[in-house]
Amino acid sequence: MASPRRSIVFMFVFVGIAAVAVLFVASWFGGGWPRAGIPGLPSPGLLTTVGLPVVRVLHDICAVATVGTLLTAVALAGDPASRREITRAAGPWALAWAAAAALTQILTLSDLLGLPVGEALESGFLPTYSMEVPQGQAFMVVTLLALVIAAGTTLRLGTWGRALLLVLAVFTVLPPAYVGHSASAADHNIAVSSLMLHIAGVTLWVGGLFGLVTHLRRSEGPALAVRRFSAIALCCFVAVGASGLVNAWIRLGGPTQLWETRYGLLILAKLAALALLGGFGWTHRHRTIATLDPAPAVPPPADPGLAPTLDPAPAVASSAAPESVPALDAASAVPPPADPDLTPAPDTTPAVPSPAGPDPAPLPAPGSGIALLGRVAGAGAFVRLATAEIAVMACTIALAVGLSRTPPPRAGALHDQHQLLGYTLPPFAPWRLITETRPDPIVILAVAGVAIAYLVGVRRLVRRGEPWPAGRTLAAMAGLLILLYGLAGGVSAYGPAMFSMHALQYALIGTVGPALLALGAPLVPVQEAAPLAQRTANGPVALGLSNPLTATALYAVPYLLLYVTGLFQPVQSSLAVRLASVTVMAVTGTWFFCVALGLDPLPRAISPVIRTRMLVGALVVQAWVALVFIGGPTQGEDWYGALAIPWAPDRVTDQQAGAVLGAGPAAVTIAALLVLMAVWRRRARRRVATRDPAPQPSTARS
Ligand code: HEM
Repeated sequence: MASPRRSIVFMFVFVGIAAVAVLFVASWFGGGWPRAGIPGLPSPGLLTTVGLPVVRVLHDICAVATVGTLLTAVALAGDPASRREITRAAGPWALAWAAAAALTQILTLSDLLGLPVGEALESGFLPTYSMEVPQGQAFMVVTLLALVIAAGTTLRLGTWGRALLLVLAVFTVLPPAYVGHSASAADHNIAVSSLMLHIAGVTLWVGGLFGLVTHLRRSEGPALAVRRFSAIALCCFVAVGASGLVNAWIRLGGPTQLWETRYGLLILAKLAALALLGGFGWTHRHRTIATLDPAPAVPPPADPGLAPTLDPAPAVASSAAPESVPALDAASAVPPPADPDLTPAPDTTPAVPSPAGPDPAPLPAPGSGIALLGRVAGAGAFVRLATAEIAVMACTIALAVGLSRTPPPRAGALHDQHQLLGYTLPPFAPWRLITETRPDPIVILAVAGVAIAYLVGVRRLVRRGEPWPAGRTLAAMAGLLILLYGLAGGVSAYGPAMFSMHALQYALIGTVGPALLALGAPLVPVQEAAPLAQRTANGPVALGLSNPLTATALYAVPYLLLYVTGLFQPVQSSLAVRLASVTVMAVTGTWFFCVALGLDPLPRAISPVIRTRMLVGALVVQAWVALVFIGGPTQGEDWYGALAIPWAPDRVTDQQAGAVLGAGPAAVTIAALLVLMAVWRRRARRRVATRDPAPQPSTARS
């Protein structure tokens, strides 16, 4: 019987061969390979034409394995020891990723120059290519960051350190989305952001499953780890499908292209792959997860399966000062985590002891590795099916690389979009703030994700008999709707073209939306729905961030950076910086109002006086913003100059209009909150007064 290690190697080789086969069939079918040599023009040679797509698949697989292993360490592994061990296991994958990215760099240069690898290197063009050509820059960034990740895995990291390494790894898969077909696509911005979401979703999904199968026996109990991963997998499944369809739509331009073009037929193949993977998920849900539970249900018939569920979480309470709403001392609300690494908050799900007892030592190898893993963790059915699933995913990634080397039908078609904006924008009219949209899948899925987490959390609280005022849910959903409009509606279409619309957009996503969302006390239900959020809810970072000064600074500093340090220009011209900027505005705004309103559980109690001062501070920030817009330097001179939109309003007048349309609604919102806080305080004082009326002067003393 083959040793466990040999079986796993066998599995990798089998999946690798299958993936390379799919890659070449897809590239041949799409016309991306073999490329007909053009007489008189030099050819890069076989090493490049064959090597480049293969190395590209290896690159994607190493990225997936690195991200997946880190995800397992951050979100699935139970005890600190295995988290550290699994984090270290990501090191070799990150090194392989760096090597594959560097090789992709060299082979792409050879492909672009049409010279064999040796001659391409001798041309001395590699440094210029790496520093100045977008494709070169993208893979150079990936190479360097993958090396940083590899180094990071050798450090002794805590929860936050590991989480940051995971975020860095997910970020590192994104630069290639900026180059390739997306760069020349119609609606460049949505093409790039949908592909970024697509690749990030694929990497977390496939990588997470890989990490789970490879490290399952080290996690806190297979059922718990699988269920936690399944929630992540469900989100990724939706994100990959939605972003893939948006990206495909941009490249195809119409439904008939799906069956009239080779590119379209490859997309259909991917759709079939996604449906098959969905089928795996459904089968898992009804079969294999049950086999992982301590009291395994009757073992399922031969064909096992997997699907997403969510963990139940502990109850929590608000942090506001007593006279506003009933509050608990933060310390007593949630006991601090025992482990210095901030181990997860107490979980109500019964710990699933592995059938072989706690953290079994590796058993001698009486059979294949997978069977061994399955037997150790009682996860046979799960691991077998998950391994087949990983094989399908690896082949789909190979299919995708073949697709990315196939010319899309609209390639080279002239698009009537604005070159700098990257999309078509009709002349401004107020009603177009309703009709125009920027359906960016990253934004839409992020807001939808928060809304779903909120509603799932509320449903769980209510099911457990905890009352949840409908007014809070309404406020939260209204806040999320305003965020969605600010990020994907007409104001986000005109924001990059007109300063007044930028100001209105940032008022909606930085103040109005977040204030309403905070009135919905979002941290309670979100922690209920996402157990991982509980791990850090009472940690030192949350304690630091809930300091009133820190929270107010988080609200104020983004405005300072935008309008004083010149960050406004890159925010307008670069999609990545723009996405980062709107994310920072929405997240810091929401956190600020959560701390200031005090409806959410926070690791510290804050008096109503301090919270009122925080809101007054925010009002001062908005007054300052209005003054900068009216009397300060004209923002984005070069950007608006380069845009040269014929119907754009006069810049100075438009910027001054920003003071009214931007700082105006923000200030009104904050003022309304101040009134609301005053009403709460008066009501609380009246409640205290009626509850323990002041003692009547006794007649005895007289
Ligand atoms: C609804 C199903 C899907 C659709 C419509 C779709 C569509 C697309 C499109 C249009 C691209 C860009 C290709 C190009 O550059 O021209 C892409 C890239 C990609 N897709 Fe998908 N996809 C789907 C599902 C999947 C699945 C299930 C996986 C993997 C499990 C996957 C993995 C990838 C990868 C890795 C890339 C980047 C390829 C590269 O540039 O190296 N996709 N997809």
